[in-house]
Amino acid sequence: MTLNGERVRRVIRDNANWTSGQTSCRIIPCVLTQGQAVFDPNKPLGPADATTPASFPLQPITQITPMRLQGKTILVTAAGQGIGQAAALAMAAEGAQVVATDVKAPLLASYQGVSNVTTAVLDVLDKAAIARQVASMERIDAVFNCAGYVHNGTILEATDEDWNFAFNLNARSQFWMIQQVIPRMLAQGGGSIINMASVCSSVRGLPNRFIYGSSKAAVIGLTKSVAADYVAQGIRCNCICPGTVDTPSLGDRINSYADPVEARKNFIARQPMGRLAQAHEIAPIIVYLASDESQFATGNAFMVDGGMTI
Ligand SMILES: NC(=O)c1ccc[n+]([C@@H]2O[C@H](COP(=O)([O-])OP(=O)(O)OC[C@H]3O[C@@H](n4cnc5c(N)ncnc54)[C@H](O)[C@@H]3O)[C@@H](O)[C@H]2O)c1
Repeated sequence: MTLNGERVRRVIRDNANWTSGQTSCRIIPCVLTQGQAVFDPNKPLGPADATTPASFPLQPITQITPMRLQGKTILVTAAGQGIGQAAALAMAAEGAQVVATDVKAPLLASYQGVSNVTTAVLDVLDKAAIARQVASMERIDAVFNCAGYVHNGTILEATDEDWNFAFNLNARSQFWMIQQVIPRMLAQGGGSIINMASVCSSVRGLPNRFIYGSSKAAVIGLTKSVAADYVAQGIRCNCICPGTVDTPSLGDRINSYADPVEARKNFIARQPMGRLAQAHEIAPIIVYLASDESQFATGNAFMVDGGMTI
């Protein structure tokens, strides 16, 4: 299994459970190229047969290492609670050195004693503070732009102030952050940028989300533009579009209704699975996008929405 160009037979598992060992196998003919087994389209797929050595190692097509983010330094905004916090913890558990930032210093105290996480207060509405934060870091392999705010209401209820605030926090802050990190990533030979969008955006219109949906649609456009400009230079830019996630700010939104019990029911009703997501259910897509496993993904909007877009 070490010679380049040598034709080899490779066994992969037909199911996705790589740890149980209880699995069926099939043979995929491959050619070894620079140590990687590459699928050979000239050979048909076939079932496992008697010529397969009993000791032939099972291995996935893409090497998935136990610590998928080892060696990477990752900056996260709005990491004080909710999805940002879940993502920061998941990435640290995968071996990344995470710099967890938030505008609210007290929220960052929750990281005390957590391995691989350092914290910093960062208000992403402050362009100079973003520049200082980026300059203070030795390297940045990935950034997760998570900060955002949800305004309630239709276009007739929207004010210029709310529009400006939403676009500044939800979109402009990402523009500022990305503008700062791209020169660093170019100097390092690449990087991964992950932006927080939402299903409520250009993907779906939802009632009473005029400003929010408009600003998150901007995030998707911003993401694709950055991806297009740097696709050949090793910088990937993707965004994620969660459905409704049970985070502290959702709790605040629910409690602001006259009847919070009814309001929660209505939020759940728009989720086809009949339940809200937990923040830790959104974190794995962020780990994936920060890791090299997603090296072929850029300019994409990834839905994690409990079926909202079926
Ligand atoms: N919760 C959902 O249902 C949901 C769904 C889709 C997308 N989103 C998006 O996910 C992101 C996080 O939302 P959430 O619900 O997980 O968390 P949240 O709204 O509960 O917490 C947001 C965090 O952002 C921080 N923050 C606010 N203003 C900031 C600023 N100027 N600079 C830095 N940090 C700031 C807050 O201190 C807080 O810790 C937002 O962009 C939101 O739009 C949320």
